[in-house]
Amino acid sequence: MPAANLPTTGALTGVFETLAFFKDTSFAQRRFERYGDVFETCLLGQRTVLIRGEQAISDLLSQSGSLQGWWPKSVRELLGRHSLANRNGADHKARRRVVGQLFSASALCRYTPAIESQVQLLSNELLNCASPTPLAPRMRQFAFSVIANIVLGLDDQNRDELFLDFEIWIKALFSLPIAIPGSSFARAMLARERLLSRLKQLFSDDQYFCGGLDLIRGGLDEAGIPLDDDDLAEQLLLLLFAGYETTASSLNCFFRALLLNPSSQKWLMEELEAQPFPYVANTPCPRLDATVLEVMRLTPPVGGFFRKNNVPIVIDGIEIPADRIIQVVLNSAMRSDQSDLCEFRPQRHMDGSFTQKLLPFGGGERVCLGKSLAELEIRLMTSGLLKNVQLRLEPNQDLSLQQIPSPTPRGGLLISCIRE
Ligand code: HEM
Repeated sequence: MPAANLPTTGALTGVFETLAFFKDTSFAQRRFERYGDVFETCLLGQRTVLIRGEQAISDLLSQSGSLQGWWPKSVRELLGRHSLANRNGADHKARRRVVGQLFSASALCRYTPAIESQVQLLSNELLNCASPTPLAPRMRQFAFSVIANIVLGLDDQNRDELFLDFEIWIKALFSLPIAIPGSSFARAMLARERLLSRLKQLFSDDQYFCGGLDLIRGGLDEAGIPLDDDDLAEQLLLLLFAGYETTASSLNCFFRALLLNPSSQKWLMEELEAQPFPYVANTPCPRLDATVLEVMRLTPPVGGFFRKNNVPIVIDGIEIPADRIIQVVLNSAMRSDQSDLCEFRPQRHMDGSFTQKLLPFGGGERVCLGKSLAELEIRLMTSGLLKNVQLRLEPNQDLSLQQIPSPTPRGGLLISCIRE
């Protein structure tokens, strides 16, 4: 069957589409409902194809030879030219192999006791809180500390100093990349220099080798060329960017969903109470896995990602001309109707009633490199906290979700705690 023509919004300059894109949180959803799962528009002056759904996304990911990674200019410049996010082909693959050693099974075993201690510390702190406390900032602290302290091996003072620059840097990621002195982008570029020089110190100072960095130090890429310090430092900066907001968001959305759905919490607790303590790797936790997946179905931590096609390709039966920016939308699964899919029901992932393949970690050759670390963090934090502390949601708070950069409860998820 010949491929169908690409539906288009008809936008030529993209001015109105770009304004709507930044203002309207249901921009993509509305257009998918009108044009289908694959359509073209013009954003920031660029022909952009938006896609969603299992078929379209798997068609795209299966044609990796015709694609390259793509990020908006602000992200490209702030991550840097060495960053594996900005590299393609053999260059990309080689750096993935080196950085991937930080997330191997043996690396995760090394991190597990330290992550468990952080969870225990947080449980104790929460139990000692006399008044209600917001959980969301604590989840953010935890996610940052796992990467900064446990993976990179920074001490607390260096972590806190790194965090200050990281906050300046991350605010400009999706801004206009114009480095006028005083603009947020210019400040972020200066913060980037400070971040990189602090990260490079990690390679020169032996006392910092208490995380996982010895696993990649001197790592050879596939061509047998050692990565220099500038190159490695940009890979570490990428890890802070990719692994912090995403993991914090999934933890916050997990606790929010569970506290709003006591019957799901009760169902999950039956499984958690039977689990060994401390954590034993590879113990099956089907209910916990189903609950995490349900959270990611309803509130994917990463809203989407991009590719550029070098040649014409066919996606879901529709021909995409060459040189389009293709934006994969992961967060448009929310339905406006009253169907069961609007409900939080983790059981759907175990009773065979939901067969769609969800891709919260992406897929293909750029699938999330930190997936197993993120899963470990989520498992240890959720089961550790729920087994030690009884969390109660405080009334009269804003539980709606701020969507950018990743879903987070606006009111900070105010809770009170009792010992389990
Ligand atoms: C729940 C938490 C997380 C989610 C949902 C998530 C999701 C994703 C997604 C969707 C991508 C694919 C982007 C693309 O195809 O262009 C990705 C890539 C990536 N993620 Fe994650 N991520 C999470 C946590 C982490 C963590 C903890 C780390 C490391 C500390 C990490 C490191 C990376 C890296 C390095 C890439 C780039 C891979 C490449 O371009 O080859 N992520 N992540």
